[in-house]
This record gives sequence, C-alpha cells and structure tokens, in this order.
Amino acid sequence: MDTQRDGTKSLYESIGGAETVRRLVEAFYPNVQADPDIGPLFPEDITPVMEKQYLFLTQFFGGPPLYSEQYGHPMMRARHLPFPITPERADAWLRCMKRALEEIGLSPEWRDIVLERLKAPAYHFVNTP
Ligand code: HEM
Repeated sequence: MDTQRDGTKSLYESIGGAETVRRLVEAFYPNVQADPDIGPLFPEDITPVMEKQYLFLTQFFGGPPLYSEQYGHPMMRARHLPFPITPERADAWLRCMKRALEEIGLSPEWRDIVLERLKAPAYHFVNTP
C-alpha cells in the first residue's frame, strides 16, 4: 500500500510501518519530557502531542497522509513559531530522537537514515538565535 510510485519501498515501510512509528513516538516523548532544554516547552499532558506526532511522522516517512487528513497542510515551521526554538533545542530534539531510535532497537543503518531525514526539519524550525 505504501510502496512508492516508482515501486521502491518508502522509508515508512522499510522501518516497519505503523508499529515502528508508534513505538518510536512512545519512546521519544519520555526522553523529551526528561530533557532540561526542551521538556519545559511541552504540556504536562503529552498524549495529544504524541498522537499528532504519530500522524505526522507516518506521513513524513512516506506512509499514508494521516496528519493532513485531520489537520490540513502541516505548515510545521509555522506551527512551531509560538515556541522559541534555538539551535541548542534542535540538537536536544535530535538527541532525544536518536536515543528513542536506539531504544526501539532499529538497526544502526536505518537509525542513521531516519535521523538524517529529521535533521533538516529540526534545524529549519529554529526561529530564535
Ligand atoms: C527543533 C526542535 C523542536 C522543538 C523544540 C519542538 C517543540 C514542539 C512543541 C513545544 C510543540 C507543541 C506542543 C503542544 O501542543 O503544546 C511541538 C509540536 C509538534 N512538533 Fe515539534 N519541535 C521540534 C522539532 C520537530 C520536528 C523535527 C518535527 C517533525 C519532523 C516536529 C513535529 C511536531 C508535530 C507534528 C507537532 C504537533 C503539531 C500540531 O499541533 O499539530 N517537531 N513541537
């Protein structure tokens, strides 16, 4: 279903689809909440954020466009503007993600590919020196 038009597998499919994205999100947010640089930016009730991230990462990795179906155009940089995101906070976000990828036991090869894909948006969302 999520094979791309050229017949190759999407990143979503390659890393294990819905189950992997779910596990990744569930591993990621406890790391975020425990992080002194970015934890305080998030609400105490993290469940709605986790759900949105599940929908977004599904689509970002090339799976079904679940986020857009519910929330329209992602406009992710704009949605992050209310929060002061410094380069250090982008580093912290990526560190939490790297640890989550390790925790769910994704192979080092796929881990690097996923992190590399997320680096560009993370630094693109920086809006504060
Ligand atoms: C660069 C460092 C980042 C920081 C500090 C950060 C922080 C935040 C914060 C504070 C929220 C709002 C939580 C709330 O609802 O109150 C949020 C929402 C969100 N973030 Fe990030 N974020 C970062 C990078 C990213 C990246 C790289 C992605 C995905 C590629 C991402 C995806 C999302 C999504 C999908 C939401 C929910 C948007 C919505 O409300 O619909 N974030 N983020």
